[in-house]
Amino acid sequence: MKLLFESWRKFLKEDEQEEFSSKFDQAIIDCDECGNGMIGVECEKPHYSSGCLEGKGFKKFGEGSFRNVYALPGSAGKHYVLKVGTADPVSKMMNKVESDTDMQRKFGELVPKTYKHSEDYSWIVMERVYPWEGSNDQFIQAFFPAFADKEYIKEKTYDPHQSVWEFFKDVSEKIVENIKEGDEGKDSSLNIEFVTPEEGKGKKNWQRREMGYERRVEFEKTLSPFYKRFIDLATEYNIEFWDIVARNVGTRADDSFVILDLSVFPEGVNASGR
Ligand SMILES: Nc1ncnc2c1ncn2[C@@H]1O[C@H](COP(=O)(O)OP(=O)(O)OP(=O)(O)O)[C@@H](O)[C@H]1O
Ligand SMILES: [Mg+2]
Repeated sequence: MKLLFESWRKFLKEDEQEEFSSKFDQAIIDCDECGNGMIGVECEKPHYSSGCLEGKGFKKFGEGSFRNVYALPGSAGKHYVLKVGTADPVSKMMNKVESDTDMQRKFGELVPKTYKHSEDYSWIVMERVYPWEGSNDQFIQAFFPAFADKEYIKEKTYDPHQSVWEFFKDVSEKIVENIKEGDEGKDSSLNIEFVTPEEGKGKKNWQRREMGYERRVEFEKTLSPFYKRFIDLATEYNIEFWDIVARNVGTRADDSFVILDLSVFPEGVNASGR
């Protein structure tokens, strides 16, 4: 009986996240140049300098405009990353959205799991995934293939020269708009995406909207349930599609798609970062 209990305990332990014990928390806190106890208080100095974290075994491998990303020290680094915000308050807001429990619960298959965050969200510990190494068009082709038919783009859309990613972005933005504001059917501006320049020549916009309706409806039928899940996430959390690009997406070990930078911004922050 004792033996059974022991092996059961071992089994439970295997599933525990013991690799990021409190010693990691302490190492991160020690690297806050504002000093312990100052978290959440305005500070002129940079929080969590790279040199300090690297000295404690965190390995920097990613850098964005708002967050620096490190593999955790030792073997934990295979599975977890630390995302540290810059001094810009927007970075904390991004860490906060990525750690949102509701979002994680509802859309767990689409985002890396977040395990831990500091009280003020200046850092989070997140599941490590594989950043996408191909182009924008290649990830659309792999995960949202309905948008990747170049012949279709050339012969059936308003811009025959647009890229697969641009087609995905423009249509997705309008689909979200239709969900939020109500689909106006034949009057929806989404329809215009499906009228070629020749077809639309000399026509008014309301005529183009009507002309593109049938084709738009047919196209929507080709969208996968997976794309619709992604659209649900994007609609609920106001994802900015211009930021759903190769550097912000990736895969899990099973090759499934994840968004590793959720691309949610406060109002007024745009593609230039401000
Ligand atoms: N969970 C993760 N697993 C593996 N790599 C990651 C993870 N999160 C981020 N990265 C890597 O670190 C980089 C920077 O992270 P992230 O995109 O979250 O920062 P950001 O400052 O919000 O970026 P942006 O400049 O796009 O706003 C990513 O482009 C990616 O290469
Ligand atoms: Mg990014």
